[in-house]
This record gives sequence, C-alpha cells and structure tokens, in this order.
Amino acid sequence: MATAKHYILGIESSCDDTAAAVLLNNKVLSNCIANQTIHKQYGGVVPELAARAHQSNIVPVVDQALQQAGITAKDLSAIAYTQGPGLMGSLLVGNSFAKSLALALQRPLIAVNHMQAHLLAHYIDQENMSAPPFPFLGVTLSGGHTQLVRVTNYFDFELLGTTKDDAIGEAFDKCGKLMGLPYPAGPDLDKLAQQGDPKRFSFPIPKVEGFDVSYSGIKTAFLNFLHKNTQQVPNFVDKNRNDLCASLQHTLVKTIFEKIEAAVAATHIKHVVIGGGVSANSEIRKQLLEKKTTDNWKVYLPPFEYTTDNAAMIGIVGYLKLQEKAFEDLKTVADPRLKF
Ligand code: KG4
Ligand code: ZN
Repeated sequence: MATAKHYILGIESSCDDTAAAVLLNNKVLSNCIANQTIHKQYGGVVPELAARAHQSNIVPVVDQALQQAGITAKDLSAIAYTQGPGLMGSLLVGNSFAKSLALALQRPLIAVNHMQAHLLAHYIDQENMSAPPFPFLGVTLSGGHTQLVRVTNYFDFELLGTTKDDAIGEAFDKCGKLMGLPYPAGPDLDKLAQQGDPKRFSFPIPKVEGFDVSYSGIKTAFLNFLHKNTQQVPNFVDKNRNDLCASLQHTLVKTIFEKIEAAVAATHIKHVVIGGGVSANSEIRKQLLEKKTTDNWKVYLPPFEYTTDNAAMIGIVGYLKLQEKAFEDLKTVADPRLKF
C-alpha cells in the first residue's frame, strides 16, 4: 500500500530565531529562518525584543516556507509548533499563531518539545545519512541547554544529566564577549581556537556529581584570569587571543566530554547523537570522531541547518506525532519549562 502523503508545517519560535518549514512526510521541502540581528548590540538575547521580532517575522516566514515548498496553506495536513522550553514571550507568538492557523484551516495541532526536536532531527530523511537506532545517548548542546539523555523510543526520553547553571553555548558566548567577540561568540571563538595552543593556559574543570555539568565557575575563573593579566599587560587579550580561545575551548569541551564518556561507560550505549548549535564546534566533532576509531562509538552529527534552531526539526516531530495522532486542542498553552 502506498504511504499517505502528508504536508506538515513546522513553526519554531522558542528563542531568537523565527523559523518555518514544510515537510512532505519525513522529507524537508523548505526550511526558512529569520534571524534576529537586533540582539547583537546588547551582546545577548533580550526577551521582550525577541517576542516583538517574532510577531513581525512569523507571517512572512511561514509564507516563504509554503512558497518554497510549492504548496498553499490548504494543502497542509497538520500544524506543528514549539510548545517549550524557551522564552515565554517568544513561545507565545508561535503558540497563538499555530492555534489560529489550525483553527482557520481545521487541521490538527501538534505541540513539540524543542529539546526532543533537536535530537529527533536525525530522523529527517536525507541522502547518505542513516538514522540512529534506539536506544541512543542524546547530547544536546546549545545556547540555552546542555543535556545528556537516554532515548529509548521516539517519545521516551530520560534526562541523565544537565547543567547546574549556564549552558555550554552561554559559556562560549559570555567568555567570548569578555575577549571582545561579537554575539554569539561560539563560531568566532572556534575559528580563533584553531590557530591557538590549547595547553597554553589552564582553567579548572568543575567537579560535579553524576552526569551533571557546571559552567559558571569556568566563566568566573576566566574573567578573573583576564582581569589579573590585563592589569599587568593591558593588551594581554589582543596578544594572546588565539591561545586564550584554544585553551578555553579545550576546557569547555573537556567538561562535557568527560561526562559523555562516563555516560557511555555506564549505559553501554555507544550510539551517540548530537544536537544543538554547539554541535557545530570543531573540537567536539574531532573528539567524537576520534572515539569512533578508538572505542567503536557510532556518532551521529546532524547537518548544520538541522542542528541550530530550525523549524525542520519541529516538522519531523510533527510528522512522527501525526502517525500517533498525538494532537492538542486549542486550550494548549506555551510552557517555558516544558520537561520530557
Ligand atoms: O541551538 P542554537 O542555535 O540555539 C539555542 O537553542 O541556543 O545554539 C546557539 C549556540 C550559541 O551559544 C552559539 O555561540 C553556539 O551555539 N555555537 C557554537 C558554534 N556554533 C554555534 N559554539 C561553539 N562552537 C561553534 N562552532
Ligand atoms: Zn535550540
């Protein structure tokens, strides 16, 4: 029997990117994003400004996604949107837009957990990419989250460890800002680190129980280190930027990598699936790929467009939930602290 054809609209608005995508079953037809540049001048996301920008962006971005997919709204089978976790004002825009569209078109509404979506993005049908088998160890590294998760089925997620304070991406961004890098600093810091010596300076790796991590101590240690050294050598950062980036990146990556290794050892799960913006980091990728050879890990690295915040990952969860008929009614609310 031929598989039914379903067009799914995915909408993502949890933080500072307004995104919309159209999927035909598990294939992406369009994946559009409106990045909000307004936050650059503040060195971080300003929640109120993010919510306002989502309001202006959401209609044009959805229109663009439909046009690029070559369909109209009437062709859609379901509307999937990010219910949480994220910023309340930002989530509310996606929630009200999705509900209104579902009501107007009389189509099912599907609520998606953003953190599940980062990992389930690996089930988007793509050439030369195989989807991870269950169970797998999910590692979500972004500006808002740092999570280690045991995933036993599409919707069976068990949180093994998380950050006690800052997310890993936040640590990259805040430490980068201290060195004068523009927001978000992660990509620039990564590039500069490639020209530097990771062993030149050392920063303490925090000791945290179990599979949890902590990043606020490293940030404070880095701040104090820069302060002390610039008092003696005013252009200390300019003179040592590459080595500072490489040494800091080494510490940030080591902090999470030790926990990933410990989780693989404890669970005996060698399928490691990465998601979130920080998974673009070259040092993390390098260390994971080394594990493939040395310890026979199976490593799943998503293509960049499906790993930073995007709506295709919301669409794929929409498709998976459509199979289960996991629909919401119009009373469904945005949940900034949504758990698995
Ligand atoms: O997943 P994402 O797009 O949005 C959130 O949900 O936060 O992740 C954004 C984060 C930012 O903190 C950014 O600095 C970081 O991902 N990032 C990187 C790299 N590329 C993006 N961090 C380190 N190295 C990179 N190459
Ligand atoms: Zn995210």
